Amino acid sequence: MAKDTLTITDNRTGKQYEIPIEQGTIRTADLRQIKTSEDDFGLLGYDPALLNTASCQSKITYIDGEKGILRYRGYDIEDLAAHSNYLETAYLIVKGELPDTERFAAWSHNITMHTMVHENIKKFMDGFRYDAHPMGMLMGTIGALSTFYADAKNVEDLQSRRLQTRRLIGKLPTLAAFAYRHNRGLPYVYPQNDLSYTGNFLSMLFKMAGKYTPHPMIERALDVLFILHADHEQNCSTNAVRAVGSSMVDPYSAVAAGIGALYGPRHGGANEAVVRMLEKIGSVENVPNAIKAFKSGDDRLMGFGHRIYKSYDPRGQIIKKLAYEVFEVTGKNHLIDIALELERIALQDDYFVSRKLYPNVDFYTGVIYQAIGFPVKMFPVLFAIPRTSGWLAQWAEMVRDPEQKITRPRQIYIGEEPREYTPLDSRPEPSDREDQVAQDI
Ligand code: CMC
Repeated sequence: MAKDTLTITDNRTGKQYEIPIEQGTIRTADLRQIKTSEDDFGLLGYDPALLNTASCQSKITYIDGEKGILRYRGYDIEDLAAHSNYLETAYLIVKGELPDTERFAAWSHNITMHTMVHENIKKFMDGFRYDAHPMGMLMGTIGALSTFYADAKNVEDLQSRRLQTRRLIGKLPTLAAFAYRHNRGLPYVYPQNDLSYTGNFLSMLFKMAGKYTPHPMIERALDVLFILHADHEQNCSTNAVRAVGSSMVDPYSAVAAGIGALYGPRHGGANEAVVRMLEKIGSVENVPNAIKAFKSGDDRLMGFGHRIYKSYDPRGQIIKKLAYEVFEVTGKNHLIDIALELERIALQDDYFVSRKLYPNVDFYTGVIYQAIGFPVKMFPVLFAIPRTSGWLAQWAEMVRDPEQKITRPRQIYIGEEPREYTPLDSRPEPSDREDQVAQDI
């Protein structure tokens, strides 16, 4: 009868081992029993970039990359994007269930009550250069919040975790808007709590001297974009939040680390890179040449490809449709034509087809953000705001998980054998060492 085990024969010793398989997975720690001698450390799994390693068990987000399925807590992303709003989705992600009316009202109230920030934050926001990248400002100010809330250190206390979660989800839009206003040299706008989460954010960004009423379509579009970005299981930034949080540091420090990870062009910075790429390509006629350059490996077609999705990213499909709804209000962003042509040609080209490179979530978001009036530098910030609910849910899951410990991967040491220290004045002349120094860099 078939058994859920893996039998391994170690050809170095001839010994056989039987290792359990659960949920299509073996525990790499089970390999440690495979030794050549008593003092052998035991067999390790080597997995750079964690391509084939599950680092946790999670109940939050399900992705089937081959079929293009994304679900939060069992709900299809398409349904949530069509019927939910960001705060309700954040509740679902953080707490595991959709709220009833009463719970949703309490949750919305609790988040709204935390949109204000300490006045001192304005002072250090002012300390950033006029042209500082808003993602850097966001990372710095979120990290600094840990110094305002000493109670956040009690990460094992449920009430404290709940409070920090509300504070972070509440304050993210305020800090993001302050960063934007700082870049523009405009006075900060305080939160207006009778507006929706995204309506209030738009007001803090764009309000000038008169009354500001967010356009309902833009408010809704931002809400949908926030829903789509709320969580995405163990991506680079979530892994960073979990790894940093595993030291039991406060969640502000862990989320600041997540923002740092998200900043990079291979992750949340890709939406910014997509628009810069589309602007550089400049016109539909230039697309075939641009595709050639991407295939040569000199550059990447930003907004294409994904570690998990090997077909369409379902979020990309929703966003592409949303773009046209936004353009009805804002007017068309001409970059969409270049994006559509890139997609059309790439999806007929063997280079992209054979590598299963499809448009990802970032391919069309930038053209929407730009049409709404966001500067390109703000795009990754617009990713960080909604991802905060996902980061916090993942962080809380990690803190509560009895199997988790401080994250501490192993390495395979491939450096020098032990050698004797040579005093500075007896070392070889620089010219003799050039090759070695170049390699070390
Ligand atoms: N353009 C051209 N070639 C690509 C691209 C691309 N966008 N993405 C992957 N490839 C090629 C890559 O050169 C490699 O080719 P070869 O096998 O000949 O060496 C092959 O496809 C596999 O690429 P990989 O880098 O091993 O794949 P990965 O799973 O490590 O990387 C990725 C995934 C998203 C980092 C990558 O596809 C990429 O850099 N895309 C562009 C940046 C981007 O859009 N990032 C946003 C990701 S979605 C939102 C998020 O998670 O933040």
